[in-house]
Amino acid sequence: MQNINSMEVYQKGIKRILIPEEQIAEAVQKAGKMIDGLYDGKPVLLISILNGAFVFMADICRAVSVPCEIAFMKVKSYSGTESTGDVQILTDVTQDLSEYNVVIIEDIIDTGRTLFKVAEILKSRQPHTFNIVTLLDKPERRDPVVRAADFKADYALFTIPDHFVIGYGLDCDEYYRTLPYIAEFDASVLESEEG
Ligand code: IMP
Ligand code: MG
Repeated sequence: MQNINSMEVYQKGIKRILIPEEQIAEAVQKAGKMIDGLYDGKPVLLISILNGAFVFMADICRAVSVPCEIAFMKVKSYSGTESTGDVQILTDVTQDLSEYNVVIIEDIIDTGRTLFKVAEILKSRQPHTFNIVTLLDKPERRDPVVRAADFKADYALFTIPDHFVIGYGLDCDEYYRTLPYIAEFDASVLESEEG
């Protein structure tokens, strides 16, 4: 990112910690147990959408005890200001979903447009069961079309207000994914070169 060209500016982008590392770890353990409770040794496929969910996936797959496979998808979403978002799959999963219980592992549901489309595509492949686990949910930002369809996560670890957040896999222009906690982003760093 062009504006972030020094450690000082980078750190200024981290406005305040919203969810500390320990609180995430605790919630991840709880979510892992919840997933265990859904299945009884049946084949589970955890699917996460890159890049944002990579850290969450790494932690939650180790918090799950039932036998499971992991898979990743890469999607490109064209979300025009008024459209409901057109999603193109860049990297698909290779498994035959009709043989699996599918659990989507997502970083954040914001407008919900991306996941709404991805869910539609994956459900059409007729998995035994289909569940969505999201680290964060920002319900205030939901696209009206997505809301009207009553589309939501089956399990959200945290519900947050309408802040742009970074860390634990979430980025702002590819930066900040490596922070161990979730923080609110200070957008003012994008405005000044000086910081
Ligand atoms: P959607 O608006 O629900 O379709 O969100 C699509 C994607 O935008 C999410 O999977 C995230 O990768 C990204 N995103 C949405 N809100 C935030 C945020 O607050 N911080 C970082 N990335 C976000
Ligand atoms: Mg992103």
